[in-house]
Order: sequence, then C-alpha cells, then structure tokens
Amino acid sequence: MDLKEAGLCEGISEVIATTRSASGVPNAAPIGFLTREGNYLVKLYKGSQTLNNIIETKKLAANVTDDAVLFVKAAFDTLSANFYSLFQGFPVLKEANSWILFKCDFIEERVESFLFQLTPITAEVNKKGVRAINRGFNAVIEAAILATRYGIVKDEREKEEMQKMVEGYAEIVEKCGGRKEKEAMRVLHEKTTRFHVISTIIEG
Ligand SMILES: Cc1cc2nc3c(=O)[nH]c(=O)nc-3n(C[C@H](O)[C@H](O)[C@H](O)COP(=O)(O)O)c2cc1C
Repeated sequence: MDLKEAGLCEGISEVIATTRSASGVPNAAPIGFLTREGNYLVKLYKGSQTLNNIIETKKLAANVTDDAVLFVKAAFDTLSANFYSLFQGFPVLKEANSWILFKCDFIEERVESFLFQLTPITAEVNKKGVRAINRGFNAVIEAAILATRYGIVKDEREKEEMQKMVEGYAEIVEKCGGRKEKEAMRVLHEKTTRFHVISTIIEG
C-alpha cells in the first residue's frame, strides 16, 4: 500500500496516533512516524498510554492533520469522545485529513523506548490538503515536542536551553502563525505552566 496519497512521505511524519485499550478506551497522542524504503516504524517512549495500548491491542491509527491545536491538546489533554469516530470499533479522529490503520509488531526494547514495525491494514483520505509551509505551525510542533520532554530532562542547563528554544518558537508563532497556531501556543502555555517564558511573550 502506498501511503503518500494519505500524506505519509519518506522521513519522519508528525501525526496523531490513536489507539484503544483492551477495554475499549480511546487515546490520542502526537507521534513521529518513520517511513523508510516502504517500511513504517515508530519508537515509543516508555510510560505512555499509547505504548500500553499498543502492547494490549497491537493496533494504531496514524491521523494526518495540520491542526496545531489538535496536536497540543492530544499531547497534554484527554480528548473527549466527540473528537473520535469509530472504524470497525477502532478510534480515529473525525477532523483528520486522512488516517491509516496499522498492525503493530514489536521489534525491540531499548533502555527508554520500544520499537515497532507497522503494517498498513487500511486507509481513508477525507481531505486532500494542500497547504504552504507555515513557520508558525512548525514552531508549535517543535515547542510541543520540547514541552513533552521537559519533564524527563534532569540537567538544569539543558532545561534552561529548552526554555530559551521555546521562547524563540513562541516569537515565531507570534510573527508567522495564524489563528490556530496562536491558539495552540496559548493552550500549550495553559497546560505547561513550567514554561514561564511563554507567558511573558503571550501576555507581555
Ligand atoms: C510532535 C510530537 C511528536 C512526538 N513524537 C513522539 C514519538 O515518536 N514517540 C513517543 O513516544 N512520544 C512522542 N511524543 C511525545 C508524546 O506525544 C507524549 O509523551 C504524550 O504525552 C503521550 O501521551 P499518551 O500517554 O496519551 O500516549 C511526541 C510529541 C510531539 C508534540
């Protein structure tokens, strides 16, 4: 199955992974999908609900979207039931431009993560999105990645460095972002009070 149509190209695609637990509870989180020579891989850090669900049910859907708010909410919030629709009982995001349902096979365990090989089962393309690159959107994604890793980092200098980077991304969002990107940055700030730096820029 060629997944370019659905928006997964060579390299790492940032998507929102939806999964379900054995008891049927849906979950969504941003995840980087690696596409290399027709192979699809994900590296899942230990401790996430996404990883627990994949171990339990061995399935995951990659939801392709350019909605910056959805990325931040999926990272820091629990999405309510009305964000999902069900495909044969499996949760996918209603607002996704496309989604691809994968079977997940365990490859190896590493110190901090598990690696899985993915095999596409089926895909649905809802919207063929053509969108020019927006630096504000990319900056939201970079800031959100840093924010999800901030809690794990122990080194104070590294933390300081991360805060400076987030400050830089917040400036790019202010300058280049649209309504969605600016809202996403406000949600990120709300969810991560650690980044005092963001509040300075947004509220200052
Ligand atoms: C853009 C983006 C990409 C991410 N990629 C990954 C990834 O590839 N693997 C991973 O384990 N976590 C990744 N994360 C972090 C998870 O989304 C984050 O830990 C999330 O809170 C996990 O949620 P869950 O516990 O509901 O699964 C990423 C975060 C962002 C914002």
